[in-house]
Amino acid sequence: MGKTLQKIKVSKVNEMPKNLGKTVTIGSHEIALFHLANGEFRAIENRCPHKGGVLVEGIVSGDHVFCPMHDWKISVKNGEVQKPDNGCVKTFNVEIEDGNVYIVL
Ligand code: FES
Repeated sequence: MGKTLQKIKVSKVNEMPKNLGKTVTIGSHEIALFHLANGEFRAIENRCPHKGGVLVEGIVSGDHVFCPMHDWKISVKNGEVQKPDNGCVKTFNVEIEDGNVYIVL
């Protein structure tokens, strides 16, 4: 049997300014939730794969966040570190329903 999905309410859409992030802790996951300029929400692991920079404190630009420690550029859509650097962070599914933001684990 597959694992049952958990859907956890983490914010309201109108509580999060665009281009800013919010830290969400669910169990052992520390997640950076971002509200993008285009209105989408994205969620990624809140630790940079380089040296553990806190990504929620990074600058968001388009579909990317720049790590506040050494400026690695990381996609908030697929979690991939952009060249010339390498690596990947975990991504989480986000759903919007009735003005609420949910993370699905
Ligand atoms: S810790 Fe993120 S770029 Fe170094």
